[in-house]
Amino acid sequence: MTQELTSPTPARQSSGPGRGPRWWRDAVIYQVYVRSFADSDGDGVGDLRGVCERLPHLKDLGVDAVWLTPFYASPQADGGYDVADYRAVDPLFGDLQDADDLIRSAHEAGLRVIVDIVPNHTSDQHPWFQDPDLARTRYIFRPGKGANGELPPNDWESVFGGPAWTRTDRGDWYLHLFAPEQPDLDWDNPDVHAEFAAILRFWLDLGVDGFRIDVAHGMVKAPGLPDIGHGQQAKLIGTQVLPFFDQDGVHAIHRTWRRLLDSYDGDRIGVAEAWAPSAERLALYVRPDELHQAFNFQFLNADWHVDALRSVIDDSLAATASVGAPTTWVLSNHDVVRHTTRLGGSLDRARAATLLMLALPGSAYLYQGEELGLPEVTDLPDEVRQDPAFFRGGQGEFGIGAPRSGADTEPATDGPADPSGQDGFRDGCRVPLPWSGEHPPYGFGPGGSWLPQPADWRALTVAAQTGDPNSTLELYRSALALRRSLPGLGDGGMSWQPAPEGVLAFSRPGLLCTVNTLGRDVELPLPGQPLLSSAPARIDGGTAVLPGDSCIWWAI
Ligand code: GLC
Repeated sequence: MTQELTSPTPARQSSGPGRGPRWWRDAVIYQVYVRSFADSDGDGVGDLRGVCERLPHLKDLGVDAVWLTPFYASPQADGGYDVADYRAVDPLFGDLQDADDLIRSAHEAGLRVIVDIVPNHTSDQHPWFQDPDLARTRYIFRPGKGANGELPPNDWESVFGGPAWTRTDRGDWYLHLFAPEQPDLDWDNPDVHAEFAAILRFWLDLGVDGFRIDVAHGMVKAPGLPDIGHGQQAKLIGTQVLPFFDQDGVHAIHRTWRRLLDSYDGDRIGVAEAWAPSAERLALYVRPDELHQAFNFQFLNADWHVDALRSVIDDSLAATASVGAPTTWVLSNHDVVRHTTRLGGSLDRARAATLLMLALPGSAYLYQGEELGLPEVTDLPDEVRQDPAFFRGGQGEFGIGAPRSGADTEPATDGPADPSGQDGFRDGCRVPLPWSGEHPPYGFGPGGSWLPQPADWRALTVAAQTGDPNSTLELYRSALALRRSLPGLGDGGMSWQPAPEGVLAFSRPGLLCTVNTLGRDVELPLPGQPLLSSAPARIDGGTAVLPGDSCIWWAI
């Protein structure tokens, strides 16, 4: 599988675009889900050349960096999060030369590049797992329980549903917190540490600006692999430290990686995908000698209500401030229901939530397609589904992303039969992007698209929205341009201001932000001149009328 560069870039360095040192503290980072972004060769699957060709879109949007989801050699049992060779590009997505070209072109366009690294598990097709002698010490094998070892070694369940153990032909069992095709590595083995350090160096040498670390809270398991208790896991996940998630031992690994990142020029970063039970425990991942950022899923999961929003913002800022790190905000990604749909199926709310997020201090992550206001696709037929959780009867990624109790919509029910279609499974947010044209595949590529696109997306394409001042795309472009132009808006402080019931108001350097979370108009004394709004205020003398579910940035 070894791949070679055909025309190596001479200087293997981060070119250092973006906004200088500590660029990540307030960066807007755009997640490219490679297989659904743009397809250059007509096989219906997005690829690295497709990303390269569409870099102008990201430049026009005004983001600082791109995060590319895994494009490594993989059987694709979990959309590429099952890696068989960490140093090779899967032929579906191109080759190593394409990766090198993309990194170079992005840097030339002033965009930094973050790649995904998957250290908790490999593919079962990885050479280590394929070799029984190597596998025994580098993965987690245990004898089964029961008279004949016919029962799994403990009661852990896979995040995707079913037991977290699979029995081999040899009679023992191996651990997989995700699909059976994703065996968990044994991080007690120094060979695993050495191999991942070498993999990080490989990509850093190629010029990447950092890594999004998949399941960064999962690599270390509690000694003895203790049971959780029958039926307890689903209740405890996300609210408590579990024997396989958020163990204190993971921090030693992140410290080592930080030293490795710091040994390179150009502020290369590590971003934790860590599902910690509280903002305080999440902040441990971004202590000064650990990673730079951690996704703030508490914010993503907050209900559209002033109290919930205000408390999650306060908790997040306090927790990260306690360790001197910036906060990282996110509303959508490839694992959760798109926020247009999640927030009650309301594009108004989604636009308001985005403007709120972009007015907060810290860094923000955008997921491809949210700049078009794309909704979750909720009517995918079963036969096109690819999310392994769908086939294993899981509850979606850690049970998040589906509407939450207290939201306007009903919580998702078990399994794929939920009539709302918001089942928490992940294909509905991964439908390929619409770029132009009247019909599928809407310019996604010269062929079709690996998941069917809705017939009514023609008004949502990049081409259709460009130049329309009321479009969601132009709202994102304006917000990002303003964010860049207002010094001090990204990093730095905020202070809450008095506001009527149902409204959040806070000031930042150069602006005041109001968010009306109610579904109806609210009046307040005119706070300043409107700079940007998700829905325009009506101004009557000294009074401003905020439309329901709106966010407005006011010049002060
Ligand atoms: C992360 C990824 C998700 C993947 C899982 C297992 O949560 O975001 O897509 O399925 O890890 O690698």
